[in-house]
Amino acid sequence: MGMQNHLFIQAAKAEHTPRTPVWLMRQAGRILPEYRKVREIAKDFKTLVKTPELATEVTIQPVNILGVDAAIIFSDILVIPEAMGLNYEMEENKGPVFPKKISSAKDLNGLHVAAAEELQYVLDAITLTKKELNGKVPLIGFAGAPWTIFSYMIEGKGSKTFSAAKKMLYTQPEFSHQLLEMITQSTIHYLKGQIQAGADVIQIFDSWAGILSPAQYSEFSLKYISKICDAISQTPKIVFAKGAFFARAELNAIKCDVVGLDWNMGINESRALLPDKVLQGNLDPCALYGSLHDVKRETIKMLEGFGPYKHIANLGHGLYPDTEVDKVKCFIDTIKEYSVSKSFASK
Ligand code: CP3
Repeated sequence: MGMQNHLFIQAAKAEHTPRTPVWLMRQAGRILPEYRKVREIAKDFKTLVKTPELATEVTIQPVNILGVDAAIIFSDILVIPEAMGLNYEMEENKGPVFPKKISSAKDLNGLHVAAAEELQYVLDAITLTKKELNGKVPLIGFAGAPWTIFSYMIEGKGSKTFSAAKKMLYTQPEFSHQLLEMITQSTIHYLKGQIQAGADVIQIFDSWAGILSPAQYSEFSLKYISKICDAISQTPKIVFAKGAFFARAELNAIKCDVVGLDWNMGINESRALLPDKVLQGNLDPCALYGSLHDVKRETIKMLEGFGPYKHIANLGHGLYPDTEVDKVKCFIDTIKEYSVSKSFASK
């Protein structure tokens, strides 16, 4: 089965493309009325994630409605702790909560290294999505970075400071490494399973990278992301480490193909620090609150900053749920039109 739109995969492999490809983090979700409808049918978030037919439907929605160049499988990074033995709940309008959390080494007794088959519902959703996409665009698989997953398992919920998780790094470094290693091994099994099921590219989300010091980041996060990248060679890999501006030179040295930038990371500076990587990003999602005229101007500014090569257009973090769909479409259309009108390919 041939792929009709290769732009995203080509760009992820640092090949020249006739225009810059675009997708958005959190493109499948609450901004779309079509998503909210399916979400209502499913009743709760976890049922949606665990029902392959529904997960497939919401995964494909942004491809058809927004015209993005890649789909990302609808799931959550927190399926990994659940498969390891730590159940999560998604509370309406609040976010994830773990009824039990990890407080000390003895809690490791209740955890195990997850096998890919324990997340069969995600693998089934990937297989079904690939079938339904029928080669229209590539499919991105994903997982959380071990440090970000660790943070949720220790805190038991979201946090502004993640100080309980950071406290663990300072007070119980050995135990922290033990848990991070278990998460890493589970994630390797899971991502390999996703690739076997049909994921064309994988992305690792390190949403809480930016709260660690550079030294802690190397020791407790990058080391494990690097292990995952070393273990996976079948597809291009994207690492998005939100807030880790200080780790860009180190990110250049790990075995991934693409590095995601947030809006705090300057483009020229990032090119200099990451000469071997394709860059993804990085418009501030809040820029989409502007008028259509403003969105277009900001998007063009971003494109001009990156230039035509080694760039995948995206936001600097996930779309906010109160973003208007026509602003998102404007972002996407501007990227598609700009590239063509400037004969991007000729460079
Ligand atoms: O479109 C896509 O990007 C694919 C689906 C996806 C979701 N979560 C669906 C979701 C992806 C890639 C994620 C990743 C994820 N989940 C991250 C990393 C990316 C990031 O934003 O930093 C994190 C930290 C989580 C954990 C999580 N899940 C939180 C903190 C929340 C609550 C906040 C919120 O946005 O509501 C979720 C819930 C969640 N995950 C929703 C969606 C669509 C909203 C739930 C709903 O529909 O009720």
